[in-house]
Amino acid sequence: MGYELIQVRPMTKRIGAEVFGIDLSQPLGNQAFSELHDALMQHQVLFFRDQQLTHESHKALGRSFGELAMHSAVAGLPDHPEIVAIHADEKSTYVAGEDWHSDLSEDPEPPMGSILYMHTLPDAGGDTLFSSMYAAYDALSPAMKAFLDPLTAVHDSNHIYRELFPDVQKTYPRNTHPVIRTHPVTKRKCLFVSQSKTVRINELSKKESDAVLRFLFDHVKDPNFQVRFRWQPNSVAFWDNRCTQHFAVWDYFPDVRSGFRVTVAGDRPF
Ligand SMILES: [Fe+2]
Repeated sequence: MGYELIQVRPMTKRIGAEVFGIDLSQPLGNQAFSELHDALMQHQVLFFRDQQLTHESHKALGRSFGELAMHSAVAGLPDHPEIVAIHADEKSTYVAGEDWHSDLSEDPEPPMGSILYMHTLPDAGGDTLFSSMYAAYDALSPAMKAFLDPLTAVHDSNHIYRELFPDVQKTYPRNTHPVIRTHPVTKRKCLFVSQSKTVRINELSKKESDAVLRFLFDHVKDPNFQVRFRWQPNSVAFWDNRCTQHFAVWDYFPDVRSGFRVTVAGDRPF
């Protein structure tokens, strides 16, 4: 794929690329948008260094790719409800994303992508791992693909947020999605169940569902499908939430790790 404005350096053959030659705080012209979109479709998660995003430019970057989605459980910033603060320090009792997941897969229309901008990082640790759900699907045997293809599964966040926010009386999203979804742009198939959110395969007995999900959750963790990103202050990661999962490693307590995320709305999986 040829790029004129940006330089794209793949980090693995299957997932992840570093992108150079672009200032994300400036409005994207048609060419820059088109090249970034092509790179995202090919590499699934893009990494950028030394960016300076204000809340406004962060939101504008997200809006170049679609409407911004609101988080169903976590309140945004008071003046910027579309921006969620991602923060951990010595008082934290949990951090967001400490298990394999795709963001808000419990929503009826899960987001197409997330753009995370980190401004404060620990001296060591705090990496994020990303796993390609194309690679995870491609690695399955033809018989397993055929078995999984017609199945659907329930994604639920109630067990997570009720434990985190016991004082909040609220019912969180719970929705059914295909176990194998088709990416709406690339038309490639990818695995769409996650350890954090998927609670049940509808067409199987509870015992069967538990066994198959246990296998799939384990499969997602295969390092052959992954890239691991080492953050620096002012790094940005932009991932396609439809074909990736990620895991935020909390190995830096009690240090501070802090940044902001915007989420770009998506479509109902098919
Ligand atoms: Fe996440």
